[in-house]
Amino acid sequence: MAYISNEIINEIRNRTDIVEVVSKYVNLTKKGKNYIGVCPFHDDHSPSMSVSPEKQIFTCFSCGATGNVFTFVADFEKISFIQAVQLLGEKAGINISNSDKLVDNKKDDYFEIYELANKFYQNSLFTSLGKNAVEYLENRKISKDTIKKFGIGLSIQKVSLTDYLVNKKYSIQKLNDIGLTNDNGKDVFINRIMFPIYDLSGNPVAFSGRIYNTKDTSKYVNTKETDKFKKGKILYNYHIAKEHLKKNDTVIIMEGQMDVIRASTVGINNCIATMGTALTRDHRNVLKNMADNIILCFDGDTAGEKATLSAIELLLDTGVNIRIVRLPDNMDPDEYILKEGKDAFLRQIDLAVSVIEYKMEILKKDKNLGDARDISNYINSAIKEIANEKDDIVVELNLKKIATNFNVEYETIRKKYDDFKTKNRVIKKEEIKVKKTYDRYRKAENNLIYYMLKSSTVLNMVEKRVGYFPTKNIRDLSNEIIYYFHKYGIINVADFISYISFSDELLGTLKDILAMNIKEDFQVEEIEDYIFVISEYYKKKKIDELTKMMKEEKDPLKQAKILGEIMEIRGVRKDDTRN
Ligand code: UTP
Ligand code: MN
Repeated sequence: MAYISNEIINEIRNRTDIVEVVSKYVNLTKKGKNYIGVCPFHDDHSPSMSVSPEKQIFTCFSCGATGNVFTFVADFEKISFIQAVQLLGEKAGINISNSDKLVDNKKDDYFEIYELANKFYQNSLFTSLGKNAVEYLENRKISKDTIKKFGIGLSIQKVSLTDYLVNKKYSIQKLNDIGLTNDNGKDVFINRIMFPIYDLSGNPVAFSGRIYNTKDTSKYVNTKETDKFKKGKILYNYHIAKEHLKKNDTVIIMEGQMDVIRASTVGINNCIATMGTALTRDHRNVLKNMADNIILCFDGDTAGEKATLSAIELLLDTGVNIRIVRLPDNMDPDEYILKEGKDAFLRQIDLAVSVIEYKMEILKKDKNLGDARDISNYINSAIKEIANEKDDIVVELNLKKIATNFNVEYETIRKKYDDFKTKNRVIKKEEIKVKKTYDRYRKAENNLIYYMLKSSTVLNMVEKRVGYFPTKNIRDLSNEIIYYFHKYGIINVADFISYISFSDELLGTLKDILAMNIKEDFQVEEIEDYIFVISEYYKKKKIDELTKMMKEEKDPLKQAKILGEIMEIRGVRKDDTRN
């Protein structure tokens, strides 16, 4: 594993702003000194994560997740601490690979190669060999500006990307690993219009290539899955759409990149695409942190309907407001905008329906709504859907709508609904609060650690007077804090988190303590109390041992001696009673 010195890690952290990084993943709102947002590490519905620009740490008061910018990225991206350091290091312009402190860490040139490949393909599009492709794009009403905006390019059989990159000294092995060159050393993409795909942070990680004047079994060919390109995690145009969400807190999800590109040609830039795959749980986590409102705008065909229903299932309990657009005549957004124009499409977006409305429409399919029995079946299944709704007003309005539509008394419908609810009442699970309960000794330990990180006075008091904590992790943590302080002369929590990250266990204990919401300031008397409690612990432990011995002892003389010892500990001896 790579080794990066603490100095470099701290330097990267210093050049990185946690608020800026976290807001790439989660919407943050300023609240007082801090920023708050929905916690991505548990099923959070209301914002319970706080990010402190001052301390450069984040804390979720609901699930207890906490840490610095590296642990945030590591936990979110499911990468190691060191990988997170490298990732943010690259962004901060700190070339870790040139550092003599670094052992065994070749700089990853993945993004660099993709950048070059992308430029290469873009250049090819405007050569004489690209005439047909440009014509194809013109026919599809894709302007030069749009081509530039989305970095669209062209792969040509006669002009080998592999040769070009090998000339630039990249190994065939590497090009094969990252999906640009096949096992025979030839280009993966041949004669296709190339759409670059970016990861959530905006780094180029893959291509999607479309046929344009040849026949092929697959319309689009995508880069194979690599360590940086996982289709289930990536959303086309995410990094651009994310920027536009600052003005408009609604994201529109489509199926294909051409849909997103078309929407942008009419000035709608808050669109992303799943690129034809079903939404995954990873997508869900990204989406629920992306915007408060999601509009599903999949293709108008039955496949699109299926995709819509499963997306609703997946997103329903995220707390995000979901609305649905179903385009007519099997059209996809690209076709619809081309045929009907911008205004018609904007109207579709405006008229997007709620989940209930959508489901109630879907339920009408295959039913003969002239038939009383069919109507009754329909009403029963509609009621089941409405029962999922939390907003009482929405419930009532929809029940009323059914009553009017089918000319049934509202009271009858309401009674059916109430009966259904009573039968299916589920005891709502309380949000899992990972707040642990500690005894008073452990509380004292936690508080001491917390204030040691804040104040060298406390640190000195602990070093002189406690030295040895009852709990092993606390003991080790305290030793590390003291060591760190003597080495660097200062304690910065955000840096100390990096420093401690070599041990999952210590980091875990530290995170627990940081997430406890311990008040910021303290009085020296309180510290004295905590130290007293710790010394009490040892007294109590010793007394318990002696009491046990005394009970087991048969000899009254010896018993008396032990009792004397107990009394002594209880009364006379004040300070250190451990041994
Ligand atoms: P569609 O078949 O709906 O393509 O697939 P589209 O968006 O209408 O594209 P055009 O208009 O024909 O150019 C939706 C998405 O599924 C992925 C692509 O990302 C596409 O945008 N797909 C489709 C593939 O990966 N491979 C395929 O063979 C087809
Ligand atoms: Mn299409």
